[in-house]
Order: sequence, then structure tokens, then C-alpha cells
Amino acid sequence: MLEGIEIETATPERILRTGLGFWAPKTLLSAVELGVFTELAQGPQSLAELSRRVGLHPRSAADFLDALVALGFLVKHGNGTGLNYTNTPDADQFLDRNKDSYVGGLLEMANTRLYRFWGNLTEGLRTGEPQNEIHDGGLDAFSRSENLDAETFRGFVQAMTGLSLGSAHALAQIFPWDRYHTFADVGTAQGGLPVVLARAYPHLCGIGVDLPKVQSIFEEYVGRNGLRDRIQWHAADIWSDPFPPADVIVLGHMLHGWGLERKKMLLQKAFDGVPAGGAVLVYDAIIDDQRQQNAFGLLFSLNMLIETREGAEYTSAECQGWMRDIGFSSTCFKPLVGSESVVVGIK
Ligand SMILES: C[S@@+](CC[C@H](N)C(=O)[O-])C[C@H]1O[C@@H](n2cnc3c(N)ncnc32)[C@H](O)[C@@H]1O
Repeated sequence: MLEGIEIETATPERILRTGLGFWAPKTLLSAVELGVFTELAQGPQSLAELSRRVGLHPRSAADFLDALVALGFLVKHGNGTGLNYTNTPDADQFLDRNKDSYVGGLLEMANTRLYRFWGNLTEGLRTGEPQNEIHDGGLDAFSRSENLDAETFRGFVQAMTGLSLGSAHALAQIFPWDRYHTFADVGTAQGGLPVVLARAYPHLCGIGVDLPKVQSIFEEYVGRNGLRDRIQWHAADIWSDPFPPADVIVLGHMLHGWGLERKKMLLQKAFDGVPAGGAVLVYDAIIDDQRQQNAFGLLFSLNMLIETREGAEYTSAECQGWMRDIGFSSTCFKPLVGSESVVVGIK
């Protein structure tokens, strides 16, 4: 009987919502591509005006913009001929191309590249092979970025800041920075994390480490934040150069890009770079140890299947095990924000 009741009350709702779930993300990605949020950051606009400015066909305009209202990215005010659209506060802060806080670079990349590569997920699952540009003999996103024009490359590097800003703020709060004086952020991109830490702790001095091409973008961002005196640039190749010494070395969204051997190599180099009592912080969308709760972390790992030859996310237990094998005297795990968390190793 009980079984019968369960069958009667079961609905396909969750299955269908997930199966057709790509509708909502693609609507948001197209809105970013069309510049809807950047337009509305200038002020409220009517349906006709906004449609004209971003280039919407009359057949699609109202459904598209109202879907963005229903999804929580736009707000409608007034009615009839006095009806206007505005951004919601988070869309205005993070999706206006003219603001420093813009995270749309990441979504632009998702729209132009990742979205279609995920269309080949099944092939990736069967073959274990990446499904991005590498698949057809091209360069992957990062290597390709070396050949991008300056503005697109800047967008790529800026996108990293969008991805990590929440974790950077959480890291500033949950780690005892008052016990340390220097830090190095290895694979720093624009320098989002160093800027957050230096702003929060006036006693801290930091180093941003990345490939030479990133230097001008890093220095402009650090300079714009008035922190040139406490945040230095250090060009290095993480595979061939040692990490610069510091009390704390941070590896943010780095380990997930490579296989086990290279993950351990990065941890060893970080271990070598800190003094006794120093710390290594590793943050990513780290998977829960039972591998059943952090859906975003698990999907991010599939994303690394699509994007890299051997990259994958990992659990906190795995990371702490690698750290202990290398010789860290203690390790711990702390959640950061959303699905992101950090593993801390003390030397
Ligand atoms: C996924 S991003 C992570 C950025 C930042 N740590 C964060 O959490 O947002 C990876 C960074 O590693 C840098 N990188 C990749 N290969 C590198 C190499 N061989 N040497 C130095 N940096 C490298 C890239 O330039 C990029 O900024």
C-alpha cells in the first residue's frame, strides 16, 4: 500500500526542471551577451527603448525580459505605457560591464565556449577526453588566451576575479592573518585575493605570482586600489620556477586544473616556500568527503573533464592526505562561501 501511495504522489517535476534547466542559464548568458544589464545600469528603460538598444526582435522582447524578471535579474516598475525595467541590485553590481565588480567576463566565456562544449559531455564521459578546443587539435582556453587581443585577454583574467571574490572575502575572515606578515598568491590572475587581504589587514604585504603576460593587468588593478606599496608582482612559471618565499602561500583554483602528480608538485613547492609554522591555503570547489553533497563541486569536476587533459576536483580528505605525506604538521578544512572551501596546511 505504502509503495502505491509513494508512486501516486511522485511527480516528474524535479526531473523535468533539471532536464530542461539549461533554459534559465542560457537566458542569463544571452542577456549578458546582449548587454542588457550594462544598458539598464544607466537608468530605467521601457520595453521599446531597451529592445531597440540591445537589438531584440518584437516577437522575443517581452518574453525574454519578463523571463529575466521572473528569474530575479530584472525588476518591472509601473504599467501600461509607463512600464520600465531596471536591474536587481546584484545584477547591477556584478553584470554592468562598466563596473570593477563585473563578473560577466566569466559568463561571456561560458556563453561563447563552454556552453557548446558541454553539449559533448557524453563523449567526454565515454572517452575521458577534453571536449574544448584541445579536442580538435586546438589550444585550450588558457593557452589560447596567450594569443588573444589585449582586451579579450584582460576579460579572461578579470573573469578569475569574479570567480574568486566571494572566497577571497571569506578567506580574509576565517584565517588568523594577524599571526603572519607576508603571503604569496600563486596563479594570482588580476590580483583579486591580494587586494582583498591587503585592504583587510594593513600589516600584511603580499606577492602576486603569475605568467609574465598578466603583469600589466595585475599592476593596473593593484595600482587602482592604491596598494602598490604592499603588493608586489612576481613573474614565474609554476612548473619551472620555485615559488617566492612567504609566511603563507595561497593556491586558489589551481589544483583542480591538473592531475595527481602535478597537484602534489604544487603542494610540495608551496611547502618549500613557507617557513616552519607557515601555512599553505588551497581553495577550490572542494568535494565533500562522501562525494554526495557538493553538486557544484562535482559538476565543476566534470567541467575540468571538458576543459583539461587530466584536471579534476578533489575531496578535503584527499588534499589533507597529500599534505600530510609531504610533511605538513597539521591540516584542517573550512567552508568558505557557496560550494567553495579551503584546506589549510601548517608546516
Ligand atoms: C584558474 S586561474 C586562478 C586564478 C586565481 N587564483 C583565482 O582563484 O581566481 C589559474 C591562474 O594560473 C595561472 N597559470 C596557469 N599556468 C601557469 C603557469 N605555468 N605559471 C604561472 N601561472 C600560471 C593563470 O595565468 C591563471 O591566472
